[in-house]
Amino acid sequence: MTSYTPSRDDKFSFGLWTVGWEGVDVFGTAVRPAMDPVHAVEKLAELGAAAISFHDDDLVPDDSTRTQTLERFSKALAETGIVVEMATTNLFSHPVFKDGGLTANDRQVRRYALAKILRNVDLAAELGASTYVLWGGREGAESGGSKDVRAALDRYKESMDILCAYVREQGYNIRFALEPKPNEPRGDILLPSIGHAIAFINDLADPELVGINPEVGHEQMAGLNYAHGIAQALWHGKLYHIDLNGQHGPRFDQDLRFGAGNLREAFWTVDVLQGAEGQPGYDGYVHFDYKPPRTEDEEGVWETARGCMRNYLILREKVAAFRADPEVTEALAAARVAELSEPTLAEGESLADLRAQSYDPNALAERGLGFEKLDQLAMEHLLGVR
Ligand code: GCO
Ligand code: MN
Ligand code: MN
Repeated sequence: MTSYTPSRDDKFSFGLWTVGWEGVDVFGTAVRPAMDPVHAVEKLAELGAAAISFHDDDLVPDDSTRTQTLERFSKALAETGIVVEMATTNLFSHPVFKDGGLTANDRQVRRYALAKILRNVDLAAELGASTYVLWGGREGAESGGSKDVRAALDRYKESMDILCAYVREQGYNIRFALEPKPNEPRGDILLPSIGHAIAFINDLADPELVGINPEVGHEQMAGLNYAHGIAQALWHGKLYHIDLNGQHGPRFDQDLRFGAGNLREAFWTVDVLQGAEGQPGYDGYVHFDYKPPRTEDEEGVWETARGCMRNYLILREKVAAFRADPEVTEALAAARVAELSEPTLAEGESLADLRAQSYDPNALAERGLGFEKLDQLAMEHLLGVR
């Protein structure tokens, strides 16, 4: 039994805005005081995290003290060994972004949004971030006639093409990651799912520089399977970053700590990330994007941060035990899981060969697949009785 204590090698990362969330929601004001980013860095280092991420406004809320703020912050990074792995732009809080940033109808707003991103991309590069996330929370609409969706996608593409060219020109070691979300705060958000975002990326000028940052809760809000979504992203070579958290099905974005909400899907998520079925997994930072509930004081906040990491480590151990269990190996064979990796047409075989074979569909239909036995074994590992 391990102690489930995280170490730097586990590559856990937290957004400054997660542990620093003051609890302002649509119905209520702050329940916790603002958290000094330096304090967040020190505490996260103590808990065993390896990295942090930030929005421009989380780190530098006040331009007049920018230099001092960044000096203090860099000193904290150097002292703790915490690295900045990702940065992003706040294109949602200020009222100027009420109709979006990069896809706002108002051209001056779009120009301001782009300038705001470029400024923070420079800071991200300076601080050593390798991923730059774009979450278009306000890129969308509440009504049909107000947004020309195709023009909005043209403008989204224009901005992404500009950003990619800028990063190439500056020689920054940064890749972009688009974060899909179906709704909230806009009624309907553009690039609402993993699939929409990947299709969009394929139409960009420099698709190699752009991948995705899928969040557990965002896919589940749309009733989609997150583990399947990230498996497809890996298949496309597009899983550049992840936002892990918890969610109970289709409803508002709950941003619970990782493992809360749909625990079974969390198990399969870790399985995919760790490289299920011998497939390549995910080797980037394990980034948590969640909100410590408003019921918690600061001690409760650190409890949730600890919980995110512990739950990942516990599930990683459960998944490894599941994959190493000889009964699971048998059940996988009975379920013909490996057979799916065999091409349907054999090498050198013609379609005429395939068509000439005689098939007995009734006999084929009689074979059960034993998926339930396999799933029960997974359940028992998850429930801790195997
Ligand atoms: C949300 C989003 C954000 C983004 C963050 C990074 O639903 O609020 O997940 O937390 O991840 O803004 O761009
Ligand atoms: Mn979210
Ligand atoms: Mn997120």
